[in-house]
Amino acid sequence: MAEDCWDPEQYERFKDERSQPFRDLAALVRPAPGMRVLDLGCGTGELTAWLHAMLQATETVGVDSSGAMISKASGLTLRGLTFAPGDITQWSAPPGSFDLIFSNAALQWVPGHLELVPRLRRALGPGGQLAVQVPVNFDHPSHAVAARIAALPPFAEALGGKPRESSLLAPEEYATLLHRCGFAEQHVRVQVYGHLLGSRSEVVEWVKGTLLNYYRARLPEGLFEAFLERYRAALLEELPDEVPYFYPFKRLLFWGRLPS
Ligand SMILES: C[S@@+](CC[C@H](N)C(=O)[O-])C[C@H]1O[C@@H](n2cnc3c(N)ncnc32)[C@H](O)[C@@H]1O
Repeated sequence: MAEDCWDPEQYERFKDERSQPFRDLAALVRPAPGMRVLDLGCGTGELTAWLHAMLQATETVGVDSSGAMISKASGLTLRGLTFAPGDITQWSAPPGSFDLIFSNAALQWVPGHLELVPRLRRALGPGGQLAVQVPVNFDHPSHAVAARIAALPPFAEALGGKPRESSLLAPEEYATLLHRCGFAEQHVRVQVYGHLLGSRSEVVEWVKGTLLNYYRARLPEGLFEAFLERYRAALLEELPDEVPYFYPFKRLLFWGRLPS
């Protein structure tokens, strides 16, 4: 999703919860001296900086299509760490440019993973690693209700009558794709992150920082507000009124390493 609806403040409201999968993904990476790292969809760059320091990388580049996110990230200064605006759908680099391509919670916005993974693989050198985390929570009401409301008038017409298509593959399809791309070692898993939120209405605040950006980018402002109200009412009806509210969130993590 290249439209710039990203709000660094809204996204960071659940900073601790959102950083855990990033750290779990980073734990899959095999550190090597002098790594050249690319972080696709780097967001505010804070976690990119953490990764750069943790790996003691020689060079880390964070790329993001949101001007607001990149401008926040560009305030970070660490030797070897840079940020650049860029759209993953258009992105390419000469073969062997990186030792690690990392992407946390961004590739779900990018279509065509069967073509994307081989494209990323070509930018890796010998022993290169690919590490990706994407949310796969589409069957939870937080996501299912949004899809349901989007299919109703007047939103369906404004959204072009097409439901949002998921670009995500099944875990075993990522495993097969990694194998076919020549990743000799791999790790693919789905992990459930349990988040304790103050109440069920905080789920709306959570998705306002991410999933609902898709609808915000496509609906006129007044209509987006109406969408949000319908979504909130329908969602709260489906979620148990428990305090605190336990929000289970499924994520898919995959990692592969090429032969040296
Ligand atoms: C949920 S945030 C994740 C940010 C960061 N990786 C993290 O873990 O905190 C998703 C990021 O992906 C970026 N993004 C979405 N589509 C993109 C695209 N096509 N090209 C580049 N960045 C994209 C958004 O601008 C946003 O900053």
